[in-house]
Amino acid sequence: MQLKFIKISFFILFSFSLQFCFLTKAQEIYDQQVEEILAGMTLDEKIGQLVQIAGVDEYREELIRQGKVGSLLFGDDGPEEVNRIQRIAVEESRLGIPLIFATDVIHGCQTIFPIPLAEASSWNPELVKIASDIAAFEAASQGIRWTFSPMVDIARDPRWGRIMEGFGEDPYLGSIFAAVKVKGFQGDNGIDKTQIAATSKHYVAYGGAEGGRDYNSVDISERTLREVHLPPFHSAVKNNVAAIMSAFNDLNGVPASANYFTLTQILRNEWNWEGVVVSDWNSVGELVYHGFAKNKEEAAFFGFNAGVTIDMVGDTIDGNVYLPNLKNLVEREMIPQEKIDDAVRYVLKMKFKLGLFRNPYVYINFFERNDLKKSYKDSIALQLAKESIVLLKNENNLLPLNKNIKSIALIGPLADNQEDPLASWAAFGEEENVVTVLQGLKNILGDDTDINFTKGCNINDEDTSGYKEAIEISKVSDVVVLVVGEEREMSGEAASKTDLNLPIVQENLIRRIYATGKPVIIVLMNGRPLTINWISENIPSIVEAWFLGDQTGNAIAEVLFGDYNPSGKLPVTFPRSTGQIPIYYYQKSTGRPIEEEDKFTSKYLDSPNTPLYPFGFGISYTDFNYKNISVDKIKIVKTDSLTVSVELLNSGEYEGEEVVQLYIQDEVASVTRPVKQLKGFQKINLRPGETRKVNFTITPDMLLFLDKDLKEVIEPGKFNVMIGGNSVDLIRTSFEVIE
Ligand code: NOJ
Repeated sequence: MQLKFIKISFFILFSFSLQFCFLTKAQEIYDQQVEEILAGMTLDEKIGQLVQIAGVDEYREELIRQGKVGSLLFGDDGPEEVNRIQRIAVEESRLGIPLIFATDVIHGCQTIFPIPLAEASSWNPELVKIASDIAAFEAASQGIRWTFSPMVDIARDPRWGRIMEGFGEDPYLGSIFAAVKVKGFQGDNGIDKTQIAATSKHYVAYGGAEGGRDYNSVDISERTLREVHLPPFHSAVKNNVAAIMSAFNDLNGVPASANYFTLTQILRNEWNWEGVVVSDWNSVGELVYHGFAKNKEEAAFFGFNAGVTIDMVGDTIDGNVYLPNLKNLVEREMIPQEKIDDAVRYVLKMKFKLGLFRNPYVYINFFERNDLKKSYKDSIALQLAKESIVLLKNENNLLPLNKNIKSIALIGPLADNQEDPLASWAAFGEEENVVTVLQGLKNILGDDTDINFTKGCNINDEDTSGYKEAIEISKVSDVVVLVVGEEREMSGEAASKTDLNLPIVQENLIRRIYATGKPVIIVLMNGRPLTINWISENIPSIVEAWFLGDQTGNAIAEVLFGDYNPSGKLPVTFPRSTGQIPIYYYQKSTGRPIEEEDKFTSKYLDSPNTPLYPFGFGISYTDFNYKNISVDKIKIVKTDSLTVSVELLNSGEYEGEEVVQLYIQDEVASVTRPVKQLKGFQKINLRPGETRKVNFTITPDMLLFLDKDLKEVIEPGKFNVMIGGNSVDLIRTSFEVIE
């Protein structure tokens, strides 16, 4: 009877909701529907909505039937399997509440795009948004309506393998990409049936793991938390991200998945966010291993009370902590019913927003947007891959190569490799879709060029038997392209490293080939900054390609032969050695700035302070010159804005794009400020000889910082404004804020 009532009222309310297109109205309707469902739920069914399982078997199907599961971490078993399992929830469970199927769609679903660190190198948020929209569409067509992406952890330690999953070291750049990823997955105006819910993760400061060791502790000030690690999450929240994942790390002594301050005080009370907090994989259960909870029951208590809505699967069949423990805790009045209801509301609202009550199943006719043909998706993947490539060095304009070249030696373990360019977290991507560099070169060159290919060595073992052939083909070719780097699993989760050099077998191969005297171009594929000092000193041309996904070979070939003029810029600093880590542009001034002649200044005895390649760096086949920086007002009051302008000239011979970067420094403040902070950028295309005036508006929010009490202030005084093509080579001016 009760069941029937609920099902009938669903129907009435769904039809009703269809007539409203304004979000607020829809919101009110969800709220009513949610309240009605909630009123008919047992405690077990409520707790079920807070439980996420991974995959199914008989036992788990029975849990679904009993209404004890709310969502599923799922693989690529396809829409029929999704529908079969969904039918158990919708038709066989008492209330028929649909499940949400989730997967890690990180840099593409079936079409694989560049890794996020590479996406950030494009400095092209609009393009990244389009790529995320495609990924959402592909995921939704498989029945996957929830992704655990974007990872918005600020990462300033390249030893940490997960640096590849995020947008690098800078909170401003990270916030821009956090926003577009969320919008790309979820859409601009609510989530339709071809879109998916996004999750920003890992909340919070997971990238600050001590020693760069994954899952390790983080101990940072509240200032660093608020200035560096929180902004990208806040940006995701402002863009209505559906979910946030609580991290594995402990933060200043309190595990992130039991942290009331970050999960409730900041997320709910300060930011008024109403989405779902999902734990990372068993991160609530791991409170026991942190030595924070005595047992799983206590873990459930701490995790739930701190604000974790959904418990992502535990490590054993019944190892998740909410399912076996929350009920007891409520019955013993340790957790109030109302708090459970609030959590269930978040989950049900998410299901409504996804339209799952109306369309629980996935049908192919949802996916008839004809702009998403394979050729369109591949063209976006190619464009993003090209824009993600960063040219690090190009002595004597060795690049671009001339297509009339007679012969090329193509060497290296990544040159004809379809597996590694997919990188970690390749969702449903397939090796056979990856265009290798060898194939890319064949696609771009006619039959008149001989491509002499050999691997030379493997990525990471001691076998040098391939060196001989590599040297021989180098000697008989006009130029050598060496494609070297990391295996896909050498970065990503649980892939921390203490040594950031190229594997020695590849480094030695490079040296042997360099000794032939042939011009050598290095193409790097990797998921983190590498310490490539010898290469940087000796090899004339270096192309940082990261892991570019399906269109790897086409993108690299277009760059090598100048069909595309590289425009990527590093979103992260390349150190000279691991000893320099953490090294990032956004540093404070020291009381003893470096002076070469004075021992007692801030420096190393055995290394320069400077990085190998700074944040924001990347060169082009053309030259860009910056001049005539000026502000339209030299004094403003705190509420004023002003415009800073610069003239950008393409003084070289190729058409090209330049990422014009704006940095600001508050010169003297009541709290020490970074020497510069990125506050804006524009990607500008110029023909040879063309000059453009580039303007940035500096608004009050760009001058704010947190004072001693962590309150936002703008203090009067001098602000330096710097503009340039990377974080070091900048021209500057200044203005003053007056009372
Ligand atoms: C653990 C990872 O830390 C997280 O990023 C991911 O989303 C989950 N596993 C689910 O795969």
